[in-house]
Amino acid sequence: VGTLGDKDLGGKKVLLRADLNVPLDDGQRIADDNRIRASVPTIKFLMGKGAKVVLASHLGRPKGVTPKYSLKPLVPRLSELLGVDVVMANDCIGEEVENLAAALPDGGVLLLENVRFYKEEEKNDPEFAKKLASVADLYVNDAFGTAHRAHASTEGVTKYLRPAVAGFLMQKELDYLVGAVADPKKPFAAIVGGSKVSTKIGVIESLLAKVDILILGGGMIYTFYKAQGHAVGKSLVEDDKLELANSLIEKAKSKGVSLLLPTDIVVANNFAADAESKTVPASAIPDGWMGLDIGPDSIRKFSETLDTTKTVIWNGPMGVFEFEKFAAGTDAIAKKLADITAQGVTTIIGGGDSVAAVEKAGLASKMSHISTGGGASLELLEGKTLPGVLALDDA
Ligand code: 3PG
Repeated sequence: VGTLGDKDLGGKKVLLRADLNVPLDDGQRIADDNRIRASVPTIKFLMGKGAKVVLASHLGRPKGVTPKYSLKPLVPRLSELLGVDVVMANDCIGEEVENLAAALPDGGVLLLENVRFYKEEEKNDPEFAKKLASVADLYVNDAFGTAHRAHASTEGVTKYLRPAVAGFLMQKELDYLVGAVADPKKPFAAIVGGSKVSTKIGVIESLLAKVDILILGGGMIYTFYKAQGHAVGKSLVEDDKLELANSLIEKAKSKGVSLLLPTDIVVANNFAADAESKTVPASAIPDGWMGLDIGPDSIRKFSETLDTTKTVIWNGPMGVFEFEKFAAGTDAIAKKLADITAQGVTTIIGGGDSVAAVEKAGLASKMSHISTGGGASLELLEGKTLPGVLALDDA
Protein backbone atom coordinates (compact mmCIF):
# COMPACT_ATOMS: atom_id res chain seq x y z
CA VAL A 1 0.00 0.00 0.00
CA GLY A 2 2.98 2.21 0.69
CA THR A 3 3.84 2.01 -2.99
CA LEU A 4 0.46 3.46 -3.90
CA GLY A 5 2.02 6.61 -2.50
CA ASP A 6 -0.14 9.65 -2.94
CA LYS A 7 -2.32 8.08 -5.59
CA ASP A 8 -5.79 9.47 -5.33
CA LEU A 9 -7.80 6.59 -3.89
CA GLY A 10 -10.93 8.61 -3.19
CA GLY A 11 -13.96 6.83 -4.57
CA LYS A 12 -11.80 4.03 -6.01
CA LYS A 13 -12.94 0.45 -5.52
CA VAL A 14 -10.12 -1.60 -4.05
CA LEU A 15 -10.20 -5.38 -4.05
CA LEU A 16 -8.33 -6.22 -0.85
CA ARG A 17 -7.37 -9.88 -0.41
CA ALA A 18 -6.83 -10.54 3.29
CA ASP A 19 -6.29 -13.80 5.14
CA LEU A 20 -9.32 -13.87 7.43
CA ASN A 21 -9.04 -17.63 7.81
CA VAL A 22 -9.64 -17.62 11.57
CA PRO A 23 -10.69 -20.55 13.72
CA LEU A 24 -14.41 -20.61 14.58
CA ASP A 25 -15.71 -22.65 17.52
CA ASP A 26 -18.82 -24.84 17.46
CA GLY A 27 -21.03 -21.84 18.17
CA GLN A 28 -19.49 -20.05 15.13
CA ARG A 29 -17.67 -17.69 17.48
CA ILE A 30 -14.18 -16.46 16.54
CA ALA A 31 -11.73 -18.46 18.65
CA ASP A 32 -8.71 -16.31 17.73
CA ASP A 33 -9.06 -12.94 16.02
CA ASN A 34 -5.34 -12.28 15.39
CA ARG A 35 -5.60 -12.43 11.64
CA ILE A 36 -8.54 -10.04 11.66
CA ARG A 37 -6.69 -7.55 13.85
CA ALA A 38 -3.55 -7.89 11.72
CA SER A 39 -5.59 -6.94 8.63
CA VAL A 40 -6.98 -3.75 10.16
CA PRO A 41 -4.15 -1.25 9.41
CA THR A 42 -4.41 -1.73 5.64
CA ILE A 43 -8.22 -1.62 5.65
CA LYS A 44 -8.21 1.54 7.78
CA PHE A 45 -5.59 3.15 5.55
CA LEU A 46 -7.75 2.54 2.47
CA MET A 47 -10.88 3.73 4.29
CA GLY A 48 -9.04 6.85 5.38
CA LYS A 49 -8.13 7.59 1.76
CA GLY A 50 -11.81 7.43 0.83
CA ALA A 51 -11.56 4.15 -1.07
CA LYS A 52 -14.43 1.68 -1.25
CA VAL A 53 -12.94 -1.48 0.22
CA VAL A 54 -14.07 -4.83 -1.19
CA LEU A 55 -12.63 -7.40 1.15
CA ALA A 56 -12.05 -10.97 -0.05
CA SER A 57 -10.83 -14.02 1.88
CA HIS A 58 -11.12 -17.76 2.19
CA LEU A 59 -12.07 -19.56 5.37
CA GLY A 60 -11.19 -23.19 5.92
CA ARG A 61 -11.12 -25.73 3.14
CA PRO A 62 -14.77 -26.05 2.05
CA LYS A 63 -15.82 -28.28 -0.82
CA GLY A 64 -18.39 -26.07 -2.50
CA VAL A 65 -20.83 -23.80 -0.66
CA THR A 66 -20.75 -24.87 3.00
CA PRO A 67 -22.56 -22.68 5.57
CA LYS A 68 -20.16 -23.51 8.37
CA TYR A 69 -17.35 -21.93 6.33
CA SER A 70 -19.24 -18.68 5.73
CA LEU A 71 -17.41 -15.44 6.56
CA LYS A 72 -20.62 -13.96 8.01
CA PRO A 73 -19.61 -14.60 11.65
CA LEU A 74 -16.71 -12.19 11.14
CA VAL A 75 -18.89 -9.16 10.35
CA PRO A 76 -19.56 -7.98 13.94
CA ARG A 77 -15.89 -8.13 14.96
CA LEU A 78 -14.70 -6.47 11.75
CA SER A 79 -17.31 -3.73 12.11
CA GLU A 80 -16.24 -3.15 15.70
CA LEU A 81 -12.53 -2.96 14.84
CA LEU A 82 -13.08 -0.70 11.83
CA GLY A 83 -15.75 1.54 13.34
CA VAL A 84 -18.11 1.12 10.35
CA ASP A 85 -20.97 -1.23 9.54
CA VAL A 86 -19.31 -3.76 7.28
CA VAL A 87 -21.69 -4.87 4.52
CA MET A 88 -21.79 -8.63 3.84
CA ALA A 89 -22.33 -10.12 0.38
CA ASN A 90 -23.87 -13.55 -0.15
CA ASP A 91 -21.36 -14.35 -2.88
CA CYS A 92 -17.91 -13.25 -3.97
CA ILE A 93 -18.73 -12.59 -7.64
CA GLY A 94 -21.82 -11.67 -9.63
CA GLU A 95 -24.44 -8.99 -9.88
CA GLU A 96 -25.26 -8.64 -6.19
CA VAL A 97 -21.58 -8.07 -5.44
CA GLU A 98 -21.31 -5.45 -8.18
CA ASN A 99 -24.40 -3.63 -6.91
CA LEU A 100 -23.25 -3.69 -3.29
CA ALA A 101 -19.78 -2.46 -4.27
CA ALA A 102 -21.25 0.34 -6.39
CA ALA A 103 -23.49 1.40 -3.50
CA LEU A 104 -20.65 1.59 -0.97
CA PRO A 105 -19.95 5.07 0.35
CA ASP A 106 -16.35 6.31 0.17
CA GLY A 107 -14.56 4.68 3.11
CA GLY A 108 -17.12 1.87 3.22
CA VAL A 109 -16.29 -1.83 3.49
CA LEU A 110 -17.92 -4.78 1.73
CA LEU A 111 -16.99 -8.29 2.84
CA LEU A 112 -17.32 -10.90 0.11
CA GLU A 113 -18.39 -14.45 0.90
CA ASN A 114 -15.74 -17.20 1.06
CA VAL A 115 -13.86 -17.31 -2.26
CA ARG A 116 -13.32 -21.07 -1.77
CA PHE A 117 -17.05 -21.68 -2.20
CA TYR A 118 -15.96 -21.83 -5.86
CA LYS A 119 -13.60 -24.65 -6.82
CA GLU A 120 -12.28 -22.24 -9.44
CA GLU A 121 -10.53 -20.32 -6.66
CA GLU A 122 -8.02 -23.04 -5.85
CA LYS A 123 -7.79 -24.03 -9.51
CA ASN A 124 -6.75 -20.45 -10.25
CA ASP A 125 -9.32 -20.38 -13.03
CA PRO A 126 -8.80 -17.34 -15.31
CA GLU A 127 -12.53 -16.70 -15.88
CA PHE A 128 -13.19 -16.71 -12.15
CA ALA A 129 -10.17 -14.46 -11.51
CA LYS A 130 -11.49 -12.06 -14.15
CA LYS A 131 -14.89 -11.93 -12.43
CA LEU A 132 -13.25 -11.21 -9.08
CA ALA A 133 -11.17 -8.48 -10.71
CA SER A 134 -14.11 -6.89 -12.49
CA VAL A 135 -15.57 -5.42 -9.31
CA ALA A 136 -12.60 -3.15 -8.53
CA ASP A 137 -10.20 -0.50 -9.88
CA LEU A 138 -7.11 -1.82 -8.17
CA TYR A 139 -5.87 -4.72 -6.08
CA VAL A 140 -4.11 -4.91 -2.74
CA ASN A 141 -2.87 -8.21 -1.36
CA ASP A 142 -2.43 -8.35 2.41
CA ALA A 143 -3.04 -12.11 2.72
CA PHE A 144 0.44 -13.19 3.72
CA GLY A 145 -0.90 -16.42 5.21
CA THR A 146 -2.21 -17.46 1.79
CA ALA A 147 0.61 -16.03 -0.33
CA HIS A 148 2.11 -19.50 -0.88
CA ARG A 149 -1.04 -20.48 -2.79
CA ALA A 150 -1.32 -19.58 -6.47
CA HIS A 151 -5.09 -19.18 -6.31
CA ALA A 152 -7.44 -16.93 -8.27
CA SER A 153 -7.80 -14.35 -5.49
CA THR A 154 -4.09 -14.33 -4.62
CA GLU A 155 -2.43 -14.68 -8.00
CA GLY A 156 -4.77 -15.01 -10.99
CA VAL A 157 -6.59 -11.78 -10.26
CA THR A 158 -3.42 -9.72 -10.80
CA LYS A 159 -3.55 -10.59 -14.51
CA TYR A 160 -6.76 -8.57 -14.80
CA LEU A 161 -6.39 -5.89 -12.16
CA ARG A 162 -3.56 -3.38 -11.89
CA PRO A 163 -2.04 -1.74 -9.96
CA ALA A 164 -1.59 -4.79 -7.74
CA VAL A 165 0.36 -4.01 -4.60
CA ALA A 166 1.20 -5.38 -1.14
CA GLY A 167 -0.65 -4.26 1.97
CA PHE A 168 1.06 -3.26 5.21
CA LEU A 169 0.80 -6.71 6.79
CA MET A 170 2.28 -8.39 3.72
CA GLN A 171 5.07 -5.84 3.75
CA LYS A 172 5.79 -6.33 7.45
CA GLU A 173 5.88 -10.11 7.15
CA LEU A 174 8.34 -9.87 4.26
CA ASP A 175 10.47 -7.28 6.05
CA TYR A 176 10.97 -9.69 8.92
CA LEU A 177 10.87 -13.13 7.34
CA VAL A 178 12.94 -12.16 4.31
CA GLY A 179 14.68 -8.91 5.23
CA ALA A 180 15.78 -9.64 8.78
CA VAL A 181 16.72 -13.21 7.88
CA ALA A 182 18.80 -12.18 4.83
CA ASP A 183 20.57 -9.36 6.61
CA PRO A 184 20.44 -10.17 10.33
CA LYS A 185 22.17 -8.43 13.19
CA LYS A 186 24.62 -11.07 14.40
CA PRO A 187 24.91 -13.40 16.17
CA PHE A 188 21.86 -14.85 14.47
CA ALA A 189 20.21 -17.91 16.03
CA ALA A 190 17.42 -20.14 14.78
CA ILE A 191 15.38 -22.32 17.09
CA VAL A 192 13.69 -25.11 15.18
CA GLY A 193 11.31 -27.54 16.85
CA GLY A 194 8.16 -29.45 16.04
CA SER A 195 7.39 -33.11 15.93
CA LYS A 196 8.92 -34.25 12.66
CA VAL A 197 12.27 -33.57 11.07
CA SER A 198 10.79 -34.50 7.67
CA THR A 199 8.65 -31.33 7.63
CA LYS A 200 11.57 -29.10 8.66
CA ILE A 201 14.41 -30.37 6.45
CA GLY A 202 14.05 -27.50 3.98
CA VAL A 203 13.97 -24.92 6.76
CA ILE A 204 16.98 -26.36 8.58
CA GLU A 205 19.04 -26.63 5.40
CA SER A 206 18.18 -23.12 4.32
CA LEU A 207 18.85 -21.63 7.78
CA LEU A 208 22.18 -23.46 8.09
CA ALA A 209 23.46 -21.19 5.34
CA LYS A 210 22.53 -18.09 7.34
CA VAL A 211 22.69 -18.63 11.10
CA ASP A 212 25.55 -18.68 13.60
CA ILE A 213 23.64 -20.85 16.06
CA LEU A 214 21.03 -23.54 15.49
CA ILE A 215 19.04 -24.80 18.46
CA LEU A 216 16.92 -27.91 17.94
CA GLY A 217 14.06 -29.15 20.09
CA GLY A 218 10.68 -30.86 19.85
CA GLY A 219 9.87 -34.35 18.68
CA MET A 220 12.37 -34.21 15.81
CA ILE A 221 15.41 -34.45 18.11
CA TYR A 222 14.89 -38.15 18.83
CA THR A 223 15.68 -38.90 15.21
CA PHE A 224 18.95 -37.00 15.72
CA TYR A 225 19.73 -38.89 18.97
CA LYS A 226 19.04 -42.26 17.41
CA ALA A 227 21.21 -41.31 14.44
CA GLN A 228 24.00 -40.56 16.92
CA GLY A 229 23.58 -43.99 18.51
CA HIS A 230 21.74 -42.92 21.69
CA ALA A 231 18.94 -44.88 23.35
CA VAL A 232 15.62 -43.15 22.63
CA GLY A 233 13.13 -45.53 24.31
CA LYS A 234 9.77 -45.28 22.58
CA SER A 235 10.23 -41.64 21.51
CA LEU A 236 9.01 -40.53 18.11
CA VAL A 237 11.66 -41.41 15.51
CA GLU A 238 11.62 -41.21 11.73
CA ASP A 239 13.80 -44.20 10.90
CA ASP A 240 14.09 -43.25 7.25
CA LYS A 241 15.62 -39.91 8.24
CA LEU A 242 18.57 -41.11 10.35
CA GLU A 243 21.15 -40.54 7.63
CA LEU A 244 19.68 -37.18 6.87
CA ALA A 245 19.91 -36.20 10.57
CA ASN A 246 23.60 -37.10 10.57
CA SER A 247 24.21 -35.20 7.37
CA LEU A 248 22.56 -32.10 8.88
CA ILE A 249 24.87 -32.38 11.89
CA GLU A 250 27.86 -32.65 9.53
CA LYS A 251 26.63 -29.73 7.48
CA ALA A 252 26.35 -27.56 10.60
CA LYS A 253 29.97 -28.46 11.48
CA SER A 254 31.26 -27.72 8.02
CA LYS A 255 29.53 -24.34 7.99
CA GLY A 256 30.82 -23.42 11.43
CA VAL A 257 27.29 -23.24 12.82
CA SER A 258 27.10 -24.05 16.50
CA LEU A 259 24.42 -26.72 16.79
CA LEU A 260 22.73 -27.18 20.15
CA LEU A 261 20.67 -30.23 20.99
CA PRO A 262 18.93 -30.61 24.38
CA THR A 263 21.11 -32.18 27.08
CA ASP A 264 18.25 -33.47 29.19
CA ILE A 265 14.74 -34.60 28.41
CA VAL A 266 11.42 -34.86 30.24
CA VAL A 267 10.18 -38.34 29.43
CA ALA A 268 6.71 -39.82 29.88
CA ASN A 269 5.48 -43.39 30.19
CA ASN A 270 2.85 -42.67 27.55
CA PHE A 271 1.52 -39.90 25.32
CA ALA A 272 -1.04 -38.33 27.64
CA ALA A 273 -1.57 -35.11 29.58
CA ASP A 274 -1.48 -37.01 32.88
CA ALA A 275 1.35 -39.42 32.00
CA GLU A 276 3.96 -40.25 34.60
CA SER A 277 7.09 -38.18 33.92
CA LYS A 278 10.72 -37.72 34.92
CA THR A 279 13.84 -35.93 33.69
CA VAL A 280 16.68 -37.98 32.23
CA PRO A 281 19.93 -37.27 30.34
CA ALA A 282 19.28 -36.90 26.62
CA SER A 283 21.78 -39.65 25.87
CA ALA A 284 19.99 -42.24 27.98
CA ILE A 285 16.23 -42.34 27.52
CA PRO A 286 15.06 -45.50 29.28
CA ASP A 287 13.21 -48.34 27.57
CA GLY A 288 9.45 -47.85 27.53
CA TRP A 289 9.66 -44.04 27.95
CA MET A 290 9.22 -41.30 25.39
CA GLY A 291 10.62 -37.78 25.30
CA LEU A 292 7.91 -35.10 25.40
CA ASP A 293 9.82 -31.96 26.44
CA ILE A 294 13.30 -30.54 26.96
CA GLY A 295 14.61 -30.58 30.54
CA PRO A 296 15.80 -27.80 32.89
CA ASP A 297 19.48 -28.12 32.01
CA SER A 298 18.64 -27.69 28.31
CA ILE A 299 16.49 -24.67 29.11
CA ARG A 300 19.37 -23.10 31.05
CA LYS A 301 21.91 -23.74 28.28
CA PHE A 302 19.57 -22.56 25.50
CA SER A 303 18.75 -19.43 27.53
CA GLU A 304 22.42 -18.60 28.10
CA THR A 305 23.08 -18.97 24.40
CA LEU A 306 20.07 -16.82 23.45
CA ASP A 307 21.46 -14.08 25.72
CA THR A 308 24.41 -13.76 23.34
CA THR A 309 22.31 -13.22 20.19
CA LYS A 310 21.07 -10.16 18.29
CA THR A 311 18.51 -11.84 15.99
CA VAL A 312 16.47 -14.98 16.69
CA ILE A 313 13.97 -16.81 14.57
CA TRP A 314 11.79 -19.48 16.15
CA ASN A 315 9.80 -22.15 14.32
CA GLY A 316 8.29 -25.09 16.16
CA PRO A 317 7.70 -25.89 19.86
CA MET A 318 10.22 -27.59 22.17
CA GLY A 319 7.79 -30.22 23.44
CA VAL A 320 4.14 -31.24 23.63
CA PHE A 321 3.09 -27.83 24.99
CA GLU A 322 -0.60 -28.68 24.57
CA PHE A 323 -0.09 -30.84 27.72
CA GLU A 324 0.65 -28.58 30.71
CA LYS A 325 3.10 -31.11 32.12
CA PHE A 326 5.25 -30.92 28.99
CA ALA A 327 4.94 -27.20 28.24
CA ALA A 328 7.83 -25.93 30.40
CA GLY A 329 10.47 -26.02 27.66
CA THR A 330 8.33 -24.18 25.12
CA ASP A 331 7.12 -21.67 27.74
CA ALA A 332 10.69 -20.99 28.90
CA ILE A 333 11.84 -20.26 25.34
CA ALA A 334 8.87 -17.93 24.81
CA LYS A 335 9.68 -16.13 28.07
CA LYS A 336 13.38 -15.86 27.18
CA LEU A 337 12.58 -14.42 23.76
CA ALA A 338 10.25 -11.86 25.33
CA ASP A 339 13.06 -10.84 27.74
CA ILE A 340 15.72 -10.44 25.07
CA THR A 341 13.31 -8.54 22.80
CA ALA A 342 13.06 -5.97 25.58
CA GLN A 343 16.85 -5.71 25.44
CA GLY A 344 16.86 -4.91 21.73
CA VAL A 345 17.17 -8.35 20.16
CA THR A 346 15.07 -8.88 17.02
CA THR A 347 12.80 -11.88 17.62
CA ILE A 348 10.72 -13.42 14.87
CA ILE A 349 8.14 -16.10 15.52
CA GLY A 350 7.26 -17.95 12.33
CA GLY A 351 4.98 -20.92 11.97
CA GLY A 352 1.65 -21.94 13.41
CA ASP A 353 2.58 -23.94 16.52
CA SER A 354 5.23 -21.63 17.95
CA VAL A 355 2.88 -18.70 17.41
CA ALA A 356 0.15 -20.59 19.30
CA ALA A 357 2.64 -21.29 22.11
CA VAL A 358 3.64 -17.63 22.40
CA GLU A 359 0.00 -16.59 22.42
CA LYS A 360 -0.85 -19.20 25.04
CA ALA A 361 1.94 -17.78 27.21
CA GLY A 362 0.43 -14.29 26.73
CA LEU A 363 3.69 -13.00 25.25
CA ALA A 364 2.64 -12.23 21.67
CA SER A 365 2.95 -8.46 22.05
CA LYS A 366 6.47 -8.82 23.47
CA MET A 367 8.09 -10.19 20.30
CA SER A 368 9.46 -8.14 17.39
CA HIS A 369 7.29 -10.03 14.94
CA ILE A 370 4.73 -12.81 15.08
CA SER A 371 3.89 -14.22 11.70
CA THR A 372 0.26 -14.67 10.64
CA GLY A 373 1.29 -17.38 8.19
CA GLY A 374 2.07 -21.01 8.98
CA GLY A 375 2.69 -22.63 5.60
CA ALA A 376 3.68 -19.30 4.03
CA SER A 377 6.35 -18.50 6.62
CA LEU A 378 7.71 -22.04 6.40
CA GLU A 379 8.06 -21.74 2.63
CA LEU A 380 9.76 -18.36 2.93
CA LEU A 381 12.20 -19.73 5.49
CA GLU A 382 12.93 -22.59 3.12
CA GLY A 383 14.03 -19.91 0.67
CA LYS A 384 11.07 -20.36 -1.68
CA THR A 385 9.30 -17.51 -3.41
CA LEU A 386 5.58 -17.01 -2.83
CA PRO A 387 3.32 -16.78 -5.90
CA GLY A 388 1.03 -14.27 -4.20
CA VAL A 389 4.00 -11.96 -3.70
CA LEU A 390 5.64 -12.51 -7.07
CA ALA A 391 2.45 -11.46 -8.82
CA LEU A 392 2.53 -7.96 -7.32
CA ASP A 393 3.87 -4.80 -9.00
CA ASP A 394 6.16 -4.13 -6.06
CA ALA A 395 7.46 -7.75 -5.84
C1 3PG B 1 -3.45 -20.92 6.62
O1 3PG B 1 -4.26 -21.01 7.54
O2 3PG B 1 -2.30 -21.41 6.68
C2 3PG B 1 -3.82 -20.09 5.43
O3 3PG B 1 -4.98 -19.40 5.64
C3 3PG B 1 -3.87 -20.95 4.19
O4 3PG B 1 -4.86 -21.92 4.32
P1 3PG B 1 -4.75 -23.27 3.47
O5 3PG B 1 -3.60 -24.05 4.07
O6 3PG B 1 -6.07 -23.96 3.61
O7 3PG B 1 -4.43 -22.88 2.05
